[in-house]
Amino acid sequence: MRMPLIAGNWKMNGSLALVDEFGQRCANVDMPPSVEVVVLPPAPYLAAAQAAFEKTALQVGAQTLNPEPGGAYTGEVSAAMLAEFGVGYVLVGHSERRSLYHEDDEAVSARARAALDAGLSPILCVGETLEERDAGDSEAVVLSQVKAVFDTLDARQRERMVIAYEPVWAIGTGRTATPEQAQAVHAAIRACLVDYDKGLATVLRLLYGGSMKRENAAELLAQPDIDGGLIGGASLKVDDFLAICQSAG
Ligand code: 13P
Repeated sequence: MRMPLIAGNWKMNGSLALVDEFGQRCANVDMPPSVEVVVLPPAPYLAAAQAAFEKTALQVGAQTLNPEPGGAYTGEVSAAMLAEFGVGYVLVGHSERRSLYHEDDEAVSARARAALDAGLSPILCVGETLEERDAGDSEAVVLSQVKAVFDTLDARQRERMVIAYEPVWAIGTGRTATPEQAQAVHAAIRACLVDYDKGLATVLRLLYGGSMKRENAAELLAQPDIDGGLIGGASLKVDDFLAICQSAG
């Protein structure tokens, strides 16, 4: 059985006050024990989140990393630095990083390998644009993004990955993929993983992201190949985020 994973990507949002609010509220809430929950605040809040989440079921995650171990890379953060603050999961290949910061498949792969080397689990984000969907290329685009990274990993590294399918047209638009659309792409990803290893396809968790909210989470999470969610906007409101976590239980 794959344990559901709910990850809240705050993007460049939030504050120390929001970190504290999540810490306090989640300390007094019964999370479903069968669900893993991660909050990914902006990097400056990692230390505060590590402290605030200590008495909660929330884990701390990060939104990006630089693949280099250290050096003259002004503004960047290494995998080892994230590990020092208790980060267990880090996003790689988010569509905003791909489009705004020009991270191509090679850059995404390098980040995934650096994260794995530091003991972190990368959450590899993949997804097609609206033009690619309209052209009937969704699965081809997504599978090529998966393979670009998985081909560079060994079998043990692959097992430590998580994949998040986030159609670009559904991110921040309020336009969620239907459960059927999401399931179809998830099934294609899982079938592609079988080509690497049957066991890998059975254990690897595939998250859906893109306007997931409390109103639609349950039906998305009920799909057989959707093992959790990567939540943007709705992860900034503690009640909404907790409701999504409950619907994964
Ligand atoms: P929204 O949930 O705001 O659409 O964002 C999804 C996302 O990009 C999470 O990484």
